[in-house]
Amino acid sequence: MADLGINIDHVATIRQARMGIEPEPLYAASIAEQSGADQITVHLREDRRHIQLRDVKLLRQTIQTKLNLEMAATPEMISIAKTLKPDTVTLVPEKREELTTEGGLLLTRDMESSIKELKDAGIEVSVFIEPDLEMIKLADKIGADAVEIHTGKYANLTDANEIEEELKKIKKAAKLIKTAGMRIVAGHGLNYHNIHHLVKMEIFEEYNIGHSIIARAVFSGLAESVKLMKNLINT
Ligand code: PXP
Repeated sequence: MADLGINIDHVATIRQARMGIEPEPLYAASIAEQSGADQITVHLREDRRHIQLRDVKLLRQTIQTKLNLEMAATPEMISIAKTLKPDTVTLVPEKREELTTEGGLLLTRDMESSIKELKDAGIEVSVFIEPDLEMIKLADKIGADAVEIHTGKYANLTDANEIEEELKKIKKAAKLIKTAGMRIVAGHGLNYHNIHHLVKMEIFEEYNIGHSIIARAVFSGLAESVKLMKNLINT
């Protein structure tokens, strides 16, 4: 059984459009959990464009599954994480001008100290990287507990041969992550149509999905959207 992490950033995006109080991301987290989500994922961005510090604090107090905090490896964010203690921190790249996380994190040896600091605080550390074998080896060397493979390129491809090539790359990367003893996660751009190729590999332990689930929820409701995806990843 693979776990499903629901990224609720988009609920906060709608709230921030009016700078008001609805829709409430906490309600989304609660409905997602009641519908089978194994984890709630949020990205506290430097520009606070969607999720706010208040959301992360309240989620930490109220969710019953696991909290996965996506963040940049900055001193400010590391200090917030050490205080709030999410179950997992996923280190992601962050650029102010991007619409969403573009591309994986380029790991460097000096990130080892940030990873250690988080792990010493009892937090699992995952790194969001491209399906690149050298990056995966480095993730292992600098102490990552888990690797989330950036599936954005796969999700955006339309040519069947290119999709097949990218899937081969992802599979090879996933095998290396497993051999290295790290947890294997996939995320970004995954939806009700493209998830099955990854499910077929029977290697991923967790998927983090946001946009397609919240988009579907506009028409079908969040509970149904979460339940459907949960069924797809475990068939
Ligand atoms: N995983 C990571 C690390 C992300 O940055 C994002 C986007 O915030 C997601 C998963 C979810 O991506 P999507 O919203 O495209 O499903």
